[in-house]
Amino acid sequence: MKANVLTVTDGRTDKTYVLPIDAGTIRAMELRQMKEGAEDFGLMTYDPAFMNTASCKSSITYIDGDKGILRYRGYPIEELAEKCTFLEVAYLLLNGELPTDNQLKEWQNEVKHHTMLHETTKKFLEGFRYDAHPMGMFVSTVAALSTVYPEARNVLDAENRRRQIVRLIGKVPTIAAYTYRHSKGLPYVYPDDDLNYTGNFMNMLWRMVEPKYAAHPVMARALSVLFILHADHEQNCSTNTMRAVGSSQADPYLSVAAAAAALSGPLHGGANEAVLRMLDQIGTKENIPAYIEQVKAGKLKLMGFGHRVYKNYDPRARIIKWAADQVFRVTGRNPRLDMALELEKIALEDEYFIKRKLYPNVDFYSGIIYQAMGFSPDMFTVLFAIPRTVGWLAHWDELMRDTEQKIARPRQIYTGVMERHLPANRPAIQASAAV
Ligand code: COA
Repeated sequence: MKANVLTVTDGRTDKTYVLPIDAGTIRAMELRQMKEGAEDFGLMTYDPAFMNTASCKSSITYIDGDKGILRYRGYPIEELAEKCTFLEVAYLLLNGELPTDNQLKEWQNEVKHHTMLHETTKKFLEGFRYDAHPMGMFVSTVAALSTVYPEARNVLDAENRRRQIVRLIGKVPTIAAYTYRHSKGLPYVYPDDDLNYTGNFMNMLWRMVEPKYAAHPVMARALSVLFILHADHEQNCSTNTMRAVGSSQADPYLSVAAAAAALSGPLHGGANEAVLRMLDQIGTKENIPAYIEQVKAGKLKLMGFGHRVYKNYDPRARIIKWAADQVFRVTGRNPRLDMALELEKIALEDEYFIKRKLYPNVDFYSGIIYQAMGFSPDMFTVLFAIPRTVGWLAHWDELMRDTEQKIARPRQIYTGVMERHLPANRPAIQASAAV
């Protein structure tokens, strides 16, 4: 008879255990009862990099990596990208449902009322060197907001959490735009309440002396689509960081800063910047086969390819290709797109990539669009961090409501020296001694 259990026999003791299976998982804590003797700690699992461990239950984002499916709160990413605005999707991720017309108006107003930065935060930004990397400025400035809103520490209060969530979503485009203006030596532009989320961001980035900035509608929509695609991706490295730091009940500004720091690495959000640098390094289409050979020899990685979860075409990469088409109709074609298409074609026909199920991921094309829009590569990860802030916060709020969660604290397998001692004749340090 079929039963939703796993029956295991511990060969060390010949004892048999029946472990319940729920949603395709067994509870790791069930293993603790499997001991060789009373002194034994009990069995653990060893899973570096969480290759096969579910760390939480979540109702926000669903991914089927084998089929190339991504859904936010049940809605396919393709439908959301085509038919929704970024703030609608943000509302959906945070609240579980799309907003009604009235809820959307209220939500847009709320976010608009939180776009300004405290003047001291602007001064804080001015302290960075002229050539500071925008991602370092972004992470530090988000962390600095923690000093401006000390009440944010009250993370167990749902209403207080909501206030900080709106603040963060309102302010991250302003911080991002100011890091850009700082690196260009341009004066900061205040938010404009008449504009929508992406339009206002573009205003803060690019307004010069004109009294009113009007974003190109195709560019503003493309940016909105890119923001939707990047808004959440379940338990990726930075979201896991958000949950780990948030689990200590650190305030949301510090937790988002930590998550953004995790995003900055080239194996995560920093990959889009790395793709552009790689395309520049390859130089011309003729050099692609030689580059691929180096990748296959293990000397290089094909940046923007491969994914821990997707073993099929990343559905976001498909939508980004479409967005690239829209943008290039306005800006003219970027030669890097032709190189990327050729690289993709060659890689997808190659046994090395087929065998390992390596497909283009979201970062493969996003950098090319960002560059066509006028961003320099060091801004790319900041552009990723703006929408992902929504995902981080949705997961943080879910974590704070989850009665099963505690402070994240994995175990380890200790491999060091078990015990040793300093020489008995070594004297203790006296407080008066000069050290
Ligand atoms: N280029 C070349 N080979 C790659 C590769 C890439 N981008 N990504 C993975 N591989 C190879 C690995 O070398 C490994 O080969 P092996 O079995 O011969 O040792 C195999 O594919 C499995 O890769 P692995 O490193 O175990 O996968 P992972 O799940 O740990 O890593 C990434 C996932 C995303 C970190 C990895 O694919 C990568 O570094 N990609 C490039 C960076 C990138 O685009 N990141 C953005 C992710 S959205």
